[in-house]
Amino acid sequence: MSFNNLDQLYRQVIMDHYKNPRNKGSIEDGSFTVDMNNPTCGDRIHLTLKVEDGIVQDAKFDGEGCSISMASASMMTQIVKGKEIEEALKLSKIFSDMMQGNDYDDDVDLGDIEALQGVAKFPARIKCATLAWKAMEKGVQEEEQE
Ligand code: FES
Repeated sequence: MSFNNLDQLYRQVIMDHYKNPRNKGSIEDGSFTVDMNNPTCGDRIHLTLKVEDGIVQDAKFDGEGCSISMASASMMTQIVKGKEIEEALKLSKIFSDMMQGNDYDDDVDLGDIEALQGVAKFPARIKCATLAWKAMEKGVQEEEQE
């Protein structure tokens, strides 16, 4: 597949998540919720995770933001569901490395997240893409401290 076709495919995946977000909403009996803003634009995410026996049983989000931030939140909730917390944090690290243009473990199946790799070329948008992931990390850290 040529680069242009791949770019186009990635764009379609991002727009599909934006227009048809997976896991939109809130979990009533969630283990924790996190509200986080992107300080550069004020866009926000409200994230709820339900964790049992160290496994993410459910993840939902709500909020307002650009297509990249909302698509990334949709993809993040999709991929962490059913994963161990440690695995979810590992994916977050991989995603962060991908956004910073660092080498990352590409043996892991990243699913739709790969569609966001082009965002790394636009530094102003990196905070959009990482907002949901940072919210997830913050929630897990706060939960572990309790
Ligand atoms: Fe606000 Fe992207 S412009 S999160």
